Amino acid sequence: MIAIGCDHGALDLKNQLVEHLKKRGIECKDVGTYTEDSCDYPEYAHKVTDLVLSGECTEGILLCGTGIGMSIAANKVKGIRAALCGDCFSAQMTKEHNNANVLCMGARVIGSELAFRIADTFLDSKFSNEERHIRRINKLED
Ligand code: RB5
Repeated sequence: MIAIGCDHGALDLKNQLVEHLKKRGIECKDVGTYTEDSCDYPEYAHKVTDLVLSGECTEGILLCGTGIGMSIAANKVKGIRAALCGDCFSAQMTKEHNNANVLCMGARVIGSELAFRIADTFLDSKFSNEERHIRRINKLED
């Protein structure tokens, strides 16, 4: 199960992405927002990070206008490694090297088709489990 959340700047993309992933057999726990009313992205970032940290969801996806606010909010939470991605190479590398557990994207920055591919790449990639990457990730938590 993937946790997904957005603010008003990314509502359409969030809904499209949930449908896209559903077609691939990937279920999302959609924490909102559910309307175009202006809202505060940290609230949705925290709903998603809570689900990831509890283990209820394996990974999270956070969307806002730029993806920046969501990534800042998520990365302040201990145990969360959120990656703001606008390309597939970064989405693959951040899983393999950083063991990122949250993907952030900017709905006003990239188109929906690219966002689908980035999400697919992120979810299909695996952490390398190499010692040097484990060592570096552990240093993030110090
Ligand atoms: C909302 O207007 C916008 O500031 C938000 O979606 C996001 O881009 C913040 O980082």
